[in-house]
Amino acid sequence: MGSERESTDVVILGAGPAGLVLGNLLLRSGIDCVVLERAGEEHIRNRARAGFLAAHTVRVLRRHGLDEGLRKRGREHGTCEFRTEDGRFRLDYRRLGRGEPHTVYPQHELVADLLVSYVGAGGRIRFDTEAVEVGGFDGDRPWVTTKAADGGVERWRARYVAACDGRHGAGRRSLPSGVGRRHRHDHKVSWLGLLAEAPPSLDAVGYATHPRGFAGHMARSADVTRYYLQCTRGASVDAWGEEQIWDELELRMRSADYGPLRRGRILQRTLVDLESDVLDPLRYGSLFLVGDAAGLISPTAAKGANLAVLGAELLGTALSDELHRGDPGPLARYSARCLAHIWRAQDFSHWMIGLLHGSPPFQEGMRRSRMRALQTSRTQQDWFAEHYVGV
Ligand code: PHB
Repeated sequence: MGSERESTDVVILGAGPAGLVLGNLLLRSGIDCVVLERAGEEHIRNRARAGFLAAHTVRVLRRHGLDEGLRKRGREHGTCEFRTEDGRFRLDYRRLGRGEPHTVYPQHELVADLLVSYVGAGGRIRFDTEAVEVGGFDGDRPWVTTKAADGGVERWRARYVAACDGRHGAGRRSLPSGVGRRHRHDHKVSWLGLLAEAPPSLDAVGYATHPRGFAGHMARSADVTRYYLQCTRGASVDAWGEEQIWDELELRMRSADYGPLRRGRILQRTLVDLESDVLDPLRYGSLFLVGDAAGLISPTAAKGANLAVLGAELLGTALSDELHRGDPGPLARYSARCLAHIWRAQDFSHWMIGLLHGSPPFQEGMRRSRMRALQTSRTQQDWFAEHYVGV
């Protein structure tokens, strides 16, 4: 069985936003923990993901002193622009709904900040260490077996295991079959995610619907911009050359009418199948699921990292209540509270998929009607703003 590691209070699987926020919170409340991450440090520091933080997420990070980088380098953002077959319109969503903006801060920069703060506070982390199995979680001494890059097998013991290791991670994989329910939905849409070495082309998030498919423009920094192109399922990320990608983006974003895009080198390409996958419940004895491991969400409304931070705060404070105050209540309520937020975000993301995609004739009719309602109804705009920025 390989070597036995020392015991700790909490083993955290995964060094994404969920795992690292949780690690920071536990350390700060004097709870011993270790983070085990399958990938190497360089990889997690550069893994491009969404970059839109909700106002609530910013408040959580601030509350726990984890917002230094974000305060310095994050930029408030409050406008989105829709380009459709009927023209274009803008929503100044910061002045709608609850009147809150997003903060644009690339997720990998947030991860790098969280890592510095965690390690700086004495937090332990092991990279290149893949969790293989979680066991014993029906009792109070769960364990995790890991395999290191050199093949070495180890077993870690804890009082609790927090699986922040994604939808395909060891946390979910270790659940016996028939335990818990998975609510899966394939939205039957795929996006090619592109990171371009180019300044933003508009001062807003851009959502374009076009007979050839959706295209999106999302700010990242002064010289890097995120674009998305709807593509056919199973397409190869390298199917298109760079010129072709820019031509396609300009066509769908209607550059002939609204101005050209600022082109640059394509730094990264990823194919994303839009899927949802929610687990219920999120607690199995001493094993808890957080972030994508709890509920994978489509990237349409950039909710993933926000849900991860929210879940990590709920779990971190609940563990502290249990371990320091002997109050098991918040831990008992973790799953239901977290799921309520997850479903609300799923509902909105699903609505947005219907706003931006639709194949003829029925769904296309629905999509156009949804877009017109958003363009013309103040009530609809307030509802949109509240859910777009909220978690
Ligand atoms: C992103 O930053 O990748 C992003 C932003 C807004 C969205 C979707 C994705 O609606």
